[in-house]
Parts: sequence; C-alpha cells; structure tokens
Amino acid sequence: MDDEILRLLREPSDSFHSGEEISRRLKVSRTAVWKRVENLRASGYDIEASRRLGYRLVRAPDLLTPSEIKPLLKTKWMGKRIHHFQTIPSTNTEAYQLALRGAPEGEIVIAESQEKGRGRLGRHWVSPPFLNLYLSVILRPEIPPSQASLITLMAAVAVAEAIERFSGLHPVIKWPNDILVENRKVAGLLNEIHSETDRIHFVILGIGVNLNMEKELLPKEIRGLATSLKMETGKSVSRKEFVPCLLGALEKCYTLFLREGGKPVLDAWREKARLKGKPVKVTSFGETLLGRAVDIDAEGRLILETEKGERKRIVAGDVEYKKERQ
Ligand code: BTN
Repeated sequence: MDDEILRLLREPSDSFHSGEEISRRLKVSRTAVWKRVENLRASGYDIEASRRLGYRLVRAPDLLTPSEIKPLLKTKWMGKRIHHFQTIPSTNTEAYQLALRGAPEGEIVIAESQEKGRGRLGRHWVSPPFLNLYLSVILRPEIPPSQASLITLMAAVAVAEAIERFSGLHPVIKWPNDILVENRKVAGLLNEIHSETDRIHFVILGIGVNLNMEKELLPKEIRGLATSLKMETGKSVSRKEFVPCLLGALEKCYTLFLREGGKPVLDAWREKARLKGKPVKVTSFGETLLGRAVDIDAEGRLILETEKGERKRIVAGDVEYKKERQ
C-alpha cells in the first residue's frame, strides 16, 4: 500500500495529487489515505499537504526499501524481488532460508541493520542502522562445487568495480575477497554454498559495504583496519543509489562468468588485487606462513612461496600484507 501511494505521488514527480484522486485510484477512504501519508512521514518522507491541491512528495529518505530502489534499478533480472527488513539477525541467514524454500536466482535480501551480522571465519560484522549496505543475493549457478570459489572472486571484482564507479576511489582486492581502500577494509563478502558432491543447489552472496559508517561506531580493535566511503571521501553517499550500481556490476560480472568461464574473472581479479610478489603473512587453519604471494590458480587458491622456498596453495585463510624489508 505504501508502495502504491509512493508510485502515484511520483508520477509525474513533484506534482500535487488530490486526496480524492488518491482515494479513488487506490480504492480506499480519504481517512485511509491520510493515515498512509502520516506513516510515510514517520518513515522520513517529506510530503507537503495543501487543502486545495492535495499531497506532494517533496523529498524521499535514503532508505533501501523496494519503493526507493526499484525506480533506480537498471538490471535485467537481479534484484527484481527485494526482501527488505528494518532489522534482522543476518541477511545471509534469511536468504539461505528463502533459497531452501525455492526462491529463484536474483532475489535479494536487504536490511537497514543486522543484529548478528556475520563475517568470514566466524567473525562479527558491525551492522548499525541506516548507514551501510547489508545485502544477500541468491544465485543458482549450474557449475560444479569445485568452481564455487570463482563465484566469490567474481563477486569481489563486482563490488570493487561498483565502489570505483560510484565514488572514484580505487579499491584493491585482498585475497580472497576483502575490498580495501588505502589499505583499510571498506567491504567484505561472506559467500555460503548449499550443494551436493557434484552439483550446487544455490550460493548466497553476502555483501557488506561500509558506506556512511562513522569511525566512532567501529569497535576500537578494528578502527585502524576499517574504513567507509564517507570516511575516505569526506562526503555522505546515497545508499539507495549505490545498490543499483552494485547490482548492475554483479549482474554483468556473473553473466560474463557463466558465458565465458573463469578466465575473465581471474584476469579482472588479478588486475584489482595486484598480488604478485607481495610479502605476505598467511594464517590458514591455525598455521602461520610467511612468504611472497605468487598468484592465484584456476580455482582461486592463493599460491604462496614460503620463506623456505616451498610453494603452497592456500584454500582458506587470512592474508596480511607485510612491509618490504629494506
Ligand atoms: C567478511 O568477514 O569480510 C565478510 C563480511 C560479510 C558481511 C555481510 S553483510 C550482509 C551479509 N549478511 C551477513 O550476516 N554477512 C554478510
């Protein structure tokens, strides 16, 4: 219903619509129209009311609701159905449940805040309300589970591209899928798979982007390690405009991956990661390794040359870039 009123108030934008017209078109009483307008105002919509002319939408808030995002969305199929929540434990958990119940590829879950935002390796993802993006996308790629990590690399490329296009910043990908600006993390991905031995049922792409996060809201232990687009550019960004930009980049990269396979994904990832030869410290399954990053292989594993000159392939873990010894 709120959706219907908003659509009506937007056509053509910023003109008045009489209470009578709205009540006739929505088939509800004038009192019901007034109540809905009051509800919208309480959610942050600036709606002018004139006894003679009716109602006019002056300004819409920066919410991630379907009514705010859909008019800006230019994708063919991604994000056509949006499940929006004011708050939720985790968008990934919700998307996983939706996918188990048969939700199709391209449906997305967005929340204004998360109570139990989940990060990689069992970590917590700080998710305060109305500042950032917490998004999960349902994908159903027809690929073997061994290629699932390519989906993760593909998503990291799409997030980095969207941030670059949207803000003019030049993000770098840190293996496997952290997005850094000036060496601080601005976005992270948590991708979860549901599969059998030789077939993927679905992948949940969980994406967290710090858009308008303030330094003070970051826990002290990660203050030096994390950042946001606002902290980097000094300007607030429009969250509802960022979402269509990100979904556009994701749809493009994913379609390319399905059509042409892993090569373009790996090439784009390599270009955005500038990994070759970097001195790194890798923590993987409780083991710490020092050495130089050589490359990633065709399945997205990190190839590391240890200080002892051994080559190792890392499947999962954390990478820290070390300073070059002088
Ligand atoms: C990381 O540790 O880098 C991954 C962070 C992923 C956070 C996002 S926010 C949306 C989605 N829902 C979650 O609970 N986590 C992911």
